[in-house]
Amino acid sequence: MFAAAEHRQNWRETPLPGALLLRGFALQAEAELLAAVEAITAAAPLRHMQTPGGQRMSVALSNCGALGWVSDRAGYRYSALDPDSGRPWPALPAVLAELAGQAAAAAGFADFCPDACLVNRYVPGARMGLHQDRDERDLRQPIVSISLGLPALFLFGGLQRSERALRVPLGHGDVLVWGGPARLRYHGVLALKEGEHPRLGAQRINLTLRRAG
Ligand code: SIN
Ligand code: FE2
Repeated sequence: MFAAAEHRQNWRETPLPGALLLRGFALQAEAELLAAVEAITAAAPLRHMQTPGGQRMSVALSNCGALGWVSDRAGYRYSALDPDSGRPWPALPAVLAELAGQAAAAAGFADFCPDACLVNRYVPGARMGLHQDRDERDLRQPIVSISLGLPALFLFGGLQRSERALRVPLGHGDVLVWGGPARLRYHGVLALKEGEHPRLGAQRINLTLRRAG
């Protein structure tokens, strides 16, 4: 689809039309973000959900916000309740909503007001296969994705699963926004490499903020 060389110059800022990569943007709120992840995962522990096909996901996940993304044998959906506890998900911390709003605005999406934040935890070997985010009601709203901890290679594919994906390295503090023409691009994460991050140890945490409802 894209010649890699053509894009190498640009992808630090705009990997693809409708996408913006803000390197280190989350570092301004690093301490609050790490505290928020601790509090969220204490209230709604990370767990390995099942795919509709019955496989255990290698990424452990949790949520905060009015709606949380869940997967089980019945399919993918948003749920106001944590299926493990039967309780609402922890509230979306203001620091996360603010940071996501600022990042979205920088990418040209004004007034982004997330109501769902997926917390993904990758340990070495964990990966996420190519998929589209399409369970949200209003697809005009962008996705804001914050990376913390070990670096990963994000796969930014096309509108068809078969299109060749761009590999975008995401590191601690990087924020990637995609919407508009990029909103339904397939994306995923290659298996996390072994490593030790000074703040987070042998893991990567990804916070994906969306307007789901
Ligand atoms: C996701 O697509 O839900 C996660 C992406 C990431 O971990 O960077
Ligand atoms: Fe996704």
